[in-house]
Order: sequence, then structure tokens, then C-alpha cells
Amino acid sequence: MTSTPKHILVTGGAGFIGSHLVDVLLTSGHRVVVVDDLSTGDLKNLSSAQVTAGDRLQFMHTTVSNALGNFNAPRFDEIYHFAAAVGVRLIVQHPSQSIETNIYETSAAIRWAIRDGAKLLVASSSEVYGKSLRVPFSESDDVLFGPTTSARWSYGYSKALDEFLALAAVAESHLQTVIVRFFNTVGPRQKGEWGMVLPRFIQAALAGKPLEVHGDGSQQRCFCDVRDIVPALIQLVGLEAGMGRIFNIGSDAMISIQALASRVIRVTESISQIQNVTHEQVFGKIFEDIQVRQPNLERIRSAIGFAPVIPLDSTIADIARSLRGAHHQEHAA
Ligand SMILES: NC(=O)c1ccc[n+]([C@@H]2O[C@H](COP(=O)([O-])OP(=O)(O)OC[C@H]3O[C@@H](n4cnc5c(N)ncnc54)[C@H](O)[C@@H]3O)[C@@H](O)[C@H]2O)c1
Repeated sequence: MTSTPKHILVTGGAGFIGSHLVDVLLTSGHRVVVVDDLSTGDLKNLSSAQVTAGDRLQFMHTTVSNALGNFNAPRFDEIYHFAAAVGVRLIVQHPSQSIETNIYETSAAIRWAIRDGAKLLVASSSEVYGKSLRVPFSESDDVLFGPTTSARWSYGYSKALDEFLALAAVAESHLQTVIVRFFNTVGPRQKGEWGMVLPRFIQAALAGKPLEVHGDGSQQRCFCDVRDIVPALIQLVGLEAGMGRIFNIGSDAMISIQALASRVIRVTESISQIQNVTHEQVFGKIFEDIQVRQPNLERIRSAIGFAPVIPLDSTIADIARSLRGAHHQEHAA
């Protein structure tokens, strides 16, 4: 229990990263309001939190902009803004709705933080670096997007606009905000439906189905367990020197997608095979993938000593365990 319980809003708190943060905030004794439209989130993600927290957890099933006009409770001390249309596949399939969600809902979260004098964490993305070739990516690097005729870049553009909006509010309204660029974050509760690679691979491995690798699988990514990420988010919001700044967050240990698929098969002891499919087969059109995506973590290391410790094999095993558990529950019901 913390000595000074805070009143905290988590937008998108029924989603993957948000719900893990909610668990930790409640365990620390804070009062938490979750605003989530359940478009990709799931109330089940909050079920253990609901049991332990009682009336310290309030859930509002709506969008951020709707909630802003209809919430009359005491002001928030902190706002963590995760609500967004997440993932390139979702954006490619529903471009206008996704772009609007990412921009308008962030604008609402910023207005809410200014109104309450709350500290705001904005969830941005490594997609903001676009197809930059300057690896590892540093927060002050130039970014390189593809043309607006390719919908896949609109996720990165929309997250970049979120950053512009937040930084403009720092200059114009003295907003206290920290912007976090997530690299691939993984762990239990992440859904594979919208293309997130690790849960998709583990679901296939558990079902004995082929693990579909897009392209030749030589793309390199860095995966970090959400349980390493969440404490760092709380530290960043508490760091005065972090206000108005952007931080990369994730792991910098690279693995190719082909090697990731093999790793999943090994850890889950699956009989599945790897199947390489073209991006055009998956997305139905020309798709420009990013070959290497790795964060430079110097800034977050020197700010809060960030050092992820959970090995990828443990994360894979935990995700597999939680998916098997969910499967048993569904079939027992
Ligand atoms: N997981 C990653 O690897 C990763 C990488 C880069 C950036 N991010 C960012 O982190 C944040 C959280 O992502 P996640 O992986 O937990 O995804 P998620 O889809 O599990 O979480 C997003 C949540 O926002 C909710 N939501 C969507 N639109 C909303 C709206 N208009 N109003 C209220 N709620 C809404 C969804 O229902 C969901 O619960 C997002 O902003 C995402 O862009 C995540």
C-alpha cells in the first residue's frame, strides 16, 4: 500500500498493456477509473483487479471523448492514455476510423489532463520512426514515412500527430506530460487477432497449426515483457525531469521473426511447422515491411535505470499457459 493514494485514469485500461498497469496501480493502493470502449479490449482483463480492488476500480464503457463530457467525479492526479486503434493490420482494414480514434481520443485525453492539472502519459509507438534505416532508433532522430497513398503509414503518422499535440499543449498550456514510444511489448492478455506476431504464433503452435511468417522472416524485432514495462511507466510519470520528453521503451535484444517462430515451437513443444507467406497474401496489396526495428535505450536507462529482466522464453511459456487456461475455461463453461 502506498502512503499517498492517487486518483488515476487509465484510458484503454481493459486492453493488454493498460490492464497490466491497472493491476499494479490497484495493488499500490490507488483509485483507478478505466475508460474503454472494448473495441479491442476485454472486460476479462480486469476480472482479477475487480475482485481485489472493490470500489477502488470504476469502469466506464465508452470512448475517451464521451467520458470527458460526462465525468463529474473528483479531478485526476494522473492519466495514462492507451486508448487507440492498435496495430498496422487494424489500421489497414479500417483506416478512417483508426486515424480518427488515434487523433481525436488523444486530443480528448490532453484536454482532460489540462482541465484537471493531471500528469499525462501518452502511449506512442516505434512506428513513429517509419522506415528509418538509422538503427538503433533514437528519440531525436529524423523520421522517414512512406507516401500517404499507403494506408500502413497512417498508424505511424497518427501517433506522430499525437506527440505533436501533446508537445504543443506543453508549450501552450503547461501540460505535464511524458511520451512513451513502445517497441514490441508482449505478454499474457495480448490478442493475436489484429496481427500481433507473438500471440498469433503461440495460438497456432498450441493448435498444431502452421506458424505463418510474413515474408522471408529475416525482419528483426525486439520483444519486451509487459511486466518489465509497467513499473517503468509509473516511474516515468513520477519523474519531474521526464516531463515534456519522449522515451523509447522496450528491449534492444533483436531476434528475427523466423527465429521467433522456431523459438515458439521449441518452448511450447509444438508439432507445428513454419509457413512463409507473402505480405500481399496477408494484406491483399503491396505492403512495405520494416526490416530492422531496435530502440536506443540510453535515454530511459539514464533517466530511471530501465533494464528489462524477463527472458523471452519465460514470456512465451507464460502466454502459452494463459492461452491454455482460457481454452480450458471456455470448454468447461
Ligand atoms: N503492444 C505493443 O507492442 C504496442 C506497440 C506500440 C504502441 N503501443 C500503444 O500502446 C497502447 C496500448 O496498446 P495495447 O497493445 O495494450 O493494445 P490494446 O488494443 O490491447 O489496447 C487498446 C485499448 O484501447 C481501447 N480503445 C480503443 N479505442 C478506444 C476509444 N476510442 N475509447 C476508449 N477506449 C478505446 C481498446 O478497447 C483497448 O482496450 C496503444 O496506444 C498502442 O498504440 C502498443
